[in-house]
Amino acid sequence: MKFFVDTADVAAIKELNDLGMVDGVTTNPSLIMKSGRDILEVTKEICDIVSGPVSAEVVATDAKDMIEEGLKLAKIAPNIAIKVPLTWDGLTACKAFASEGHMVNVTLCFSVSQAILAAKAGATFISPFIGRLDDINLDGMQLIDDIRTVYDNYDYKTEILAASIRSTNHIAECGRIGADVITAPPAVIKSMVKHPLTDQGLAQFMADWAKTGQKIV
Ligand code: G3P
Repeated sequence: MKFFVDTADVAAIKELNDLGMVDGVTTNPSLIMKSGRDILEVTKEICDIVSGPVSAEVVATDAKDMIEEGLKLAKIAPNIAIKVPLTWDGLTACKAFASEGHMVNVTLCFSVSQAILAAKAGATFISPFIGRLDDINLDGMQLIDDIRTVYDNYDYKTEILAASIRSTNHIAECGRIGADVITAPPAVIKSMVKHPLTDQGLAQFMADWAKTGQKIV
């Protein structure tokens, strides 16, 4: 299971990358806004840290301008995955980028039908949004499961990049279903370490150890 970090926070990326937790990074216009940084500068900095795919998103809405923006973003580094929205123009741009050998992440996917179109347009990654479906009382995880089934039925090579992940349960469930990649905020990835029984067990071990009066070093 590959871990992408869903952020443009360079310090957070570096911390997780140093621990071997980062297989790639995803950004979007909202995350760039949150970083307060210039998109070209911050994306270059991220690409210098992470060797895996780094998604950088176009903001044009028509295919011609998306292609122009995407090609500029792709020049930042060889590991850029150009991110396009799941619209007809986005799919047109996806096909153009894929034909030229660029990695493409098709984002804002909310249905199996959309995921099929992205695979046929040559997407490297499809990004179904789990949390935002859950937000409107639909079942985000079911979408991951359904896309997995359909992609496997036809041996589509597009990787399922589960996005809009809000909890450690989302990550565990994606692993069970077989999503190829998850992208999650740094805080969610770091919270995977937490378990109350770990804390409780450690406290007990420390209390008992103190009673022995021993030292290891
Ligand atoms: O990268 C896009 C996606 O992960 C956004 O997540 O929490 O804003 O729905 P969220």
